[in-house]
Amino acid sequence: MPQHKFIVCNYTQALSSGKVSWQSPSNIALVKYWGKYGEQMPMNPSVSFTLQNSNTQTCLSFEKKQSEGFEFEVFLDGKREVSFEPKIQKFFERVEVYLPFLKNFKFKIETTNSFPHSSGIASSASGMSALALCLMDMERQMQPAITTDYFNEKASFLARLGSGSACRSVEGPLIVWGEHAEINGSNNCFGIKYPFDVHQNFNDYQDTILLVDKGEKQVSSTLGHDLMLDHPFAEQRFRQAKENLLKLRPVFKNGDLSEFIKIVESEALSLHAMMMTSMPYFILMKPNTLEIINRIWKFRDETGSKVCFTLDAGANVHVLYPKLEKDNVLHFIKKELLQYCKNGEFIEDEVGLGATNILV
Ligand code: PMV
Repeated sequence: MPQHKFIVCNYTQALSSGKVSWQSPSNIALVKYWGKYGEQMPMNPSVSFTLQNSNTQTCLSFEKKQSEGFEFEVFLDGKREVSFEPKIQKFFERVEVYLPFLKNFKFKIETTNSFPHSSGIASSASGMSALALCLMDMERQMQPAITTDYFNEKASFLARLGSGSACRSVEGPLIVWGEHAEINGSNNCFGIKYPFDVHQNFNDYQDTILLVDKGEKQVSSTLGHDLMLDHPFAEQRFRQAKENLLKLRPVFKNGDLSEFIKIVESEALSLHAMMMTSMPYFILMKPNTLEIINRIWKFRDETGSKVCFTLDAGANVHVLYPKLEKDNVLHFIKKELLQYCKNGEFIEDEVGLGATNILV
């Protein structure tokens, strides 16, 4: 099992106090992960674009202490945020075996998102990967011999234990997570860079995120994932995701955008179909989500544009298109789609290369 390589026996350097800081992006899945088992293991492999502008910056201050036990405080935008602390507590408990120093330090976790907290954009992927990277930064100070590959793999591994899809946020631009027989190196424990050729059409793909509904999630993703365990269509869905990953291989290689659109949109609708057909069932799309989808289809029919959409577990729409089309598509979005967004809000994003260290 690959996780054994992440258990550390002893560190070579002592560490008493300091500060580390990382910025980590969000990501958008093209083939969706929905359904998990064990400790955050995916039921099917997924692939995502790492984003550029939607990110979390986390600064972790640490100080050695005598007493044993987790001790930390979380601050969001400079204000203590106790509501985040149970999630961090659970994360620390899960990763303790891989980061044996956790109980020997007192932590201050200061975090801020580039997107508004109430935007409906999940901050768990960017937030958990930024925190995982800060902890790996500490580990590297205690064990300077570790390689960059090990650093990134373990950061992704730890991020996954915080929030599954967070493991796809450490690097970019295209990340595969989950074991697939045809993809060398793919595994359930951490994300890897997509290992095959990628056509330049995908180099600077755009993602304009339309904020349709900014409320709290109706259904937590943990509950949603759990509903896949005895879902009547689970096996077909997991098979479909694997097949779609395979179908994307020539698409990424040749830059075939028509085929790309079919796979990506079908994945988004299949994800929502799983939610609608689970027990209990739920609908996370809003009427405006459907209005936007229909407008995108009409625009594509009329203009031959290669714009398409994808969805997460919510009502917001990610509008994907090649950079070459940026002016035209943004014009279309402003003219026709913003009327369906809460307060006309949207985020302009694009494919990015992963997390970065912020010097403090
Ligand atoms: O990382 P989680 O547990 O919040 O799951 C996210 C799952 C989707 O965003 C719906 C799909 C995906 O692959 O990112």
